[in-house]
Amino acid sequence: MILVVGGAGYIGSHVVKQLVETKPVVVLDNLSTGHRYAVDKRAVFVHGDLGDRATLVRMFEKYPIDAVMHFAANSLVGESVVEPMKYYKNNVAATLTLLETMMEYGVKRFIFSSTAAVYGIPNVDLITEDCPTNPINPYGRSKLMIEHMLSDFASAYDLRYVVLRYFNAAGAHESGDIGEDHHPETHLIPLILQHLLGLRDKISVFGTDYDTPDGTCIRDYIHVTDLAEAHILALHALLSDEKKTATYNLGNGLGYSVKEVIDMCERVTGKKATIEYTARRPGDPERLVASSENIARELGWQATRSLEDIIASAWRWHASKRG
Ligand code: UFG
Repeated sequence: MILVVGGAGYIGSHVVKQLVETKPVVVLDNLSTGHRYAVDKRAVFVHGDLGDRATLVRMFEKYPIDAVMHFAANSLVGESVVEPMKYYKNNVAATLTLLETMMEYGVKRFIFSSTAAVYGIPNVDLITEDCPTNPINPYGRSKLMIEHMLSDFASAYDLRYVVLRYFNAAGAHESGDIGEDHHPETHLIPLILQHLLGLRDKISVFGTDYDTPDGTCIRDYIHVTDLAEAHILALHALLSDEKKTATYNLGNGLGYSVKEVIDMCERVTGKKATIEYTARRPGDPERLVASSENIARELGWQATRSLEDIIASAWRWHASKRG
């Protein structure tokens, strides 16, 4: 059985939907940002906190857990700057409790959701996993601290793990049942689509004076279903002992500027956006684009969905729920 911590959240719920096709799954989620409706009915659901040792102990006693996938985290860069304590407590300390309980019960396979934010402001066009890690905010630092913990636990306790550093996850499940549903929403694509649905009066572009061809920030948008497929491959590699430890970037390898994303949303939806150009948002790196060569070579993963596919799937989801 696979324990998915944070399986009611955006990325976790998409992975659970694929995972339940082949494996028994138990989800632990405190529903602080996730949604009960998003958890596939075929999974067992436990409402609880990952930092609560008693809950974890009960779960490890009750279910024959072979591996853990860990998605539960606070993940807003801006919030992490004003509330770092929340990030070190809910991300770092809670993960330590999880790992400690796993070691106690001899569960030694772990897949961890990390982020492009561990790189800080890289000065390369395509970011590879061996680029220096210099996070510039507490969110990125909290994720990097966990990466260091995993490496130390691998040496000392034979923990087997795959770290997946996501770039900009976006898009929705093809079933139309689940998609990106954050409250409040801060991410570019859902904000544009909510605007185009008439739920917001405009879309703000944060900064037009970056050193990029059109002056707006460049990001690597990756379809959440492509991300989910990478998790299934990573799990297989751990369970079959093909891999003991690995850290992979997950992106498309293609950079799109904020303006290009707005253009694509207009094209896909056939609607015209009202754009407000504002000052830069603090802490935004100019360009973040992944090289995902390593996971392609080692696990045979490929991102197969384009920015247009991402936006079309997100549009179906947002239009169906009107938000
Ligand atoms: N942006 C706008 N207007 C908006 C919202 C966003 O112009 O209303 C811009 C941002 O400035 C940025 C780009 O759109 O240039 C993408 O912003 P998002 O907030 O959608 O995503 P981020 O790149 O800031 O964040 C993502 C993940 C984080 C992760 C980070 C790593 O969501 O979890 O990448 O840098 F930490």
